[in-house]
Amino acid sequence: MSKPKRSSAQRYHDRVAGAYDDSYDDAYWQWHDALTWDHLRAFLPTDLSAEVIDLGCGTGKWGLKLLKSGFRVTFADISAKMVDAARAGAAEMGLEPRAAFLHADVCDLSALASERFTLATAFGEPLGCASSPPAAMREARRILKPGGVLVATLDNRWACIEFYMQRGNLDELDRFLDDGRTHWLTKRSEEQFPIVTYGPAELERLLRQTGFELVDLIGKTVLPMRHYRALLEDREARARLMRIEKKLWRDRAAIGRAAHLQFAARRL
Ligand SMILES: C[S@@+](CC[C@H](N)C(=O)[O-])C[C@H]1O[C@@H](n2cnc3c(N)ncnc32)[C@H](O)[C@@H]1O
Repeated sequence: MSKPKRSSAQRYHDRVAGAYDDSYDDAYWQWHDALTWDHLRAFLPTDLSAEVIDLGCGTGKWGLKLLKSGFRVTFADISAKMVDAARAGAAEMGLEPRAAFLHADVCDLSALASERFTLATAFGEPLGCASSPPAAMREARRILKPGGVLVATLDNRWACIEFYMQRGNLDELDRFLDDGRTHWLTKRSEEQFPIVTYGPAELERLLRQTGFELVDLIGKTVLPMRHYRALLEDREARARLMRIEKKLWRDRAAIGRAAHLQFAARRL
């Protein structure tokens, strides 16, 4: 039997897995990660025996943090190389016995029993680059216990307008604003996987359609810090910018500026 063809998302992430962590290791990403964690922390189960799953785990940035916090964690990713990297991370920490690993598309988690997990995370937008985000959400719902929480990020549709304005193609702009569909901007055409972007209203619709209720929504990040990284070099300025960001991150109008939406949703 021939091997199943890898999707463009799988091809891209397999290729970058080895060098992935190096591209996310500077003052900006530390600041950004602190925001992700500060928001996620409020939704951690109170019981350490609860099972947690990190969907689109990548090299394990968040799953490993959850593992270190004491939870039993399943790491799942469409890229086998990413799953291998996460496994190596857990082994290095000596925490492999509390971890499980799954090479799977988030749209097909049939290897996992229904209603097993108390918390699911999906950071770095794996749900938006799934072949069908609603199907991915339904799978996330199926494996969550009733009342379980999904904390995830999606690309913010309104943050992509600049890109389409720069291209100057009004048909493309019009179409994008209608359906929110774009693709990963990598040079190799075979790795340009499709991405569906969402605004807050479209996210709420997606949640309603797939059996979740929105519990909390932040923009990440409202301050355009990736263009002003030098400001983050000073410790005091970094802390101040964090305070300012947190004044804005739940403001629905301010969220329009953010590259990503980070939401917590309860499984109904
Ligand atoms: C931007 S990376 C983020 C990795 C990690 N969650 C983090 O925040 O560092 C996105 C990850 O989602 C995975 N992914 C993309 N599409 C997926 C799918 N359909 N099913 C499962 N994982 C997927 C990729 O392989 C990649 O590891």
